[in-house]
Amino acid sequence: MIIPATEDQAMIDLSPYGEWNWSMMGFAGRDPIFYAQLESEVSIHNSGDLPETIQNLCFRCHGVMGQRQFHLDDAGDTFTRDIVHVTDPADPNCKYGALAREGISCMVCHQIVDEGKPTQETMTGQFDVAPAGAEGNGISRIFGPFEDPATLPMVSSLGMKPLHGEPIKTSRLCGSCHTIYLPIFDADGNQVGSDFEQTTYQELVKNPENRFTTSFVAQATTIKDKRLLPKGWTKEGPPGFAADPTWGLRFVAATSPKGKVLDDVAFQDGSGSDRIVYQIDLPEEDIAGGTVEATLYYQSIPPFYLLERFSTAHGPNAQRLHFMASYLNVDGTPIENWKLEVAAAQQAFDGDT
Ligand code: HEC
Ligand code: HEC
Ligand code: HEC
Repeated sequence: MIIPATEDQAMIDLSPYGEWNWSMMGFAGRDPIFYAQLESEVSIHNSGDLPETIQNLCFRCHGVMGQRQFHLDDAGDTFTRDIVHVTDPADPNCKYGALAREGISCMVCHQIVDEGKPTQETMTGQFDVAPAGAEGNGISRIFGPFEDPATLPMVSSLGMKPLHGEPIKTSRLCGSCHTIYLPIFDADGNQVGSDFEQTTYQELVKNPENRFTTSFVAQATTIKDKRLLPKGWTKEGPPGFAADPTWGLRFVAATSPKGKVLDDVAFQDGSGSDRIVYQIDLPEEDIAGGTVEATLYYQSIPPFYLLERFSTAHGPNAQRLHFMASYLNVDGTPIENWKLEVAAAQQAFDGDT
């Protein structure tokens, strides 16, 4: 699962580990943005036992293996940041810290079982796993997409029997953590409700029986006006789609733009692009022999998203993130000044136009 190095190119690791190793889920237990956000949540909600219960909740996904094992072993009431930092093997919490730092590891997804519970019972990271030792003699179960896998190597080296598992082939597996329903607290620390913080999975599968998988935007009833339509877009949807008696018309209705953009012909021509007109008044004496330059940038997370973290969190985790964000040298990279240039154009004019 590697593409060997050549003279012009370094080796590429395509193994499951090679992909996981660099992924956000691989880093979930060590992500500096997560820890800064956690610190800000804990400093805002600082009454009663909220600082501890909030951490316990966040680690249900971000430090899933440590948090789960900690509770399975009845090692305490709440799983918190200080446990994640324990590295002294003599400390009984050491193993939970190490597990949490591993983030969403292989052993998370590959042990999930699905007993057909409704999403409401598995969301916010409440998925089930096969119980330890389910195969007898201390051998546990691990699941993968293949029928009839060879079992001996993993049984003898890991004490785990690899089995074919249907759940790993459905997005319900991901839906447990990618549906986040969190409590809302007032300034005095009283819970005043709960709300969906993220509904990535619901956006994919609107139907609770997991049948409607045609569109990420199925959940939205009104599409945002400013969304750029993909190249090749047509009013009728993908070729032949509108003719589907069950989903065709609903798909078209859900994915069609609405509102003022309907007057914008360029937006709907299927070119995947649009025109925006900026009109700026210039004094006449400045116009002769001038040049207009325009640059379009794509700007991702910083600085505003991070700024919010720094204004509410003041502990070592926010400081670490601040340090990293301040010293990360992006000079000479495609994101110079934290901005990715998409396109640039220049036009000289003579004063008449
Ligand atoms: C976020 C969940 C998740 C994590 C984490 C994860 N896997 Fe998987 N893995 C899957 C899913 C889903 C499939 C099935 C893909 C399919 O059916 O095409 C899979 C398939 C596999 C397969 C068999 C098919 C293949 O593509 O090679 C292997 C081997 C595997 N994973 C190993 C690993 C290892 C090793 C790790 C940790 C480094 C890991 N996985 C982490 C979800 C995960
Ligand atoms: C149910 C699982 C779950 C719980 C509980 C959870 N998160 Fe997350 N978190 C996620 C997922 C999934 C993502 C990635 C979302 C995406 O990008 O689609 C994420 C992303 C984040 C990010 C963005 C990370 C980055 O690198 O940009 C932050 C910050 C974060 N979560 C903080 C928290 C905090 C603080 C809590 C506790 C109040 C919390 N999360 C609880 C699942 C969870
Ligand atoms: C145990 C909980 C858990 C499960 C199960 C899970 N995820 Fe995640 N996922 C997370 C968390 C937590 C993050 C955010 C990590 C961070 O940045 O700190 C995340 C991040 C991601 C991201 C990066 C999002 C972004 O904005 O870049 C993708 C993509 C993703 N998950 C896909 C999947 C898929 C596909 C599956 C199922 C095969 C899956 N996840 C299963 C918890 C989970």
